[in-house]
Amino acid sequence: MADTPSVFSVLPRHLAIIMDGNGRWAQARGLARSEGHKAGAETVRTIVAECCRLSISYLTLYAFSTENWSRPKTEVSALFALLVEFLRRELPLLQEKHICLRTIGAVEALPLAQRSALAHAVRATEGNRAMVLNLALNYGGRQEILRAVRNMIHDGLAETSVTEEVLAGYLYTAGQPDPDCIIRTSGEQRLSNYLLYQSAYSELIFSPVFWPDFGVSELHRALQEYAGRTRRFGKC
Ligand code: IPE
Ligand code: IPE
Ligand code: MG
Repeated sequence: MADTPSVFSVLPRHLAIIMDGNGRWAQARGLARSEGHKAGAETVRTIVAECCRLSISYLTLYAFSTENWSRPKTEVSALFALLVEFLRRELPLLQEKHICLRTIGAVEALPLAQRSALAHAVRATEGNRAMVLNLALNYGGRQEILRAVRNMIHDGLAETSVTEEVLAGYLYTAGQPDPDCIIRTSGEQRLSNYLLYQSAYSELIFSPVFWPDFGVSELHRALQEYAGRTRRFGKC
């Protein structure tokens, strides 16, 4: 029986996840890495549905980093094919659960089929209010900050008018709260260029479980760990 939302004394308003370990999950089974990504897409469905059930307002999933282009072409293509398939298959779930899909990252550099599928799903769900699901695609924190600085210069902002809030408004996550909690699966303990500006005070939770095996109980374990943290924001 799944825990009810009331089990958690406090939940993150914005949860971000670094979905890592698909390749190792597959390799451990003698499968191709792409099979790990396929299994990982199933986990996305489960975790999105559970976060929505728990009334988490924002969920941000790291799906493809600016550095992931350096993987073999075949793996990049397999990931992109999976994205289109995922959007086609899961759009009904997003609609049923009133989830608003957004993207963060340089999606304009993705191939046409991926851009079209994303644009369609984003448009179709833009009025949904239960949860915002940000997919980080061709996303890099440094690229995001650089883009923000360039756009501020382009807009002719005066030096004194550039505040933390103004800069935040130029990020892909403009208008959204910073992630309260970032979970990374697969035992790796680094940010890998994820949400560098927004993660200033995020609680970091590391799970040893590979992403395809990260289920509702692992999510609950991570959320319990988050609920037990004392967030001080510099105060004593
Ligand atoms: C995460 O799994 C998915 C993406 C980065 C797209 P990996 O593919 O990084 O899996 P590992 O870390 O090699 O096991
Ligand atoms: C981070 O995972 C990117 C995504 C989960 C999309 P990576 O597997 O690419 O990160 P590193 O290379 O281990 O730092
Ligand atoms: Mg990895």
